[in-house]
Amino acid sequence: MTRIGWSLLAAIGWSAPALAQEAPGDGRALYEQHCAGCHAIDANRVGPAHRGVFGRKAGLAPGFRYSDAVKRSGVVWDAKSLDAWLADPERLIPGQKMYAEFEDPAVRRAIIEFLRTQR
Ligand code: HEC
Repeated sequence: MTRIGWSLLAAIGWSAPALAQEAPGDGRALYEQHCAGCHAIDANRVGPAHRGVFGRKAGLAPGFRYSDAVKRSGVVWDAKSLDAWLADPERLIPGQKMYAEFEDPAVRRAIIEFLRTQR
């Protein structure tokens, strides 16, 4: 999708279902761009593996050493909590150790839709 496409989506708040269906493909590229420096879908790196994270409680990727803050947070990862996490992790779970923030709501949404498909 073009740059114009993304700002349009941001402007309309991603309300059109036809456009939302395009999210997984673009979400994958955005994931590679913004997350893959620390994360992979199937391997723990600097951050935990992401397979199955959507819909699961925080802190459960096997073999990853989470902060106590994330382990004890009781957060369940859904579209809303993931959006809050990506926008400002420290605000959602004080004491976490992700140290990355993503300002663009359209980028967050596309990446979250991609994670939703990685069951
Ligand atoms: C600078 C490295 C870094 C980047 C970039 C990064 N993360 Fe993370 N992420 C981490 C670390 C480290 C943790 C573990 C945090 C903790 O335990 O406090 C984490 C945790 C998470 C969790 C919680 C997982 C779970 O199993 O509970 C999610 C979801 C997540 N990151 C999503 C993302 C997404 C999506 C992106 C890209 C938009 C991203 N992260 C970018 C390092 C990073």
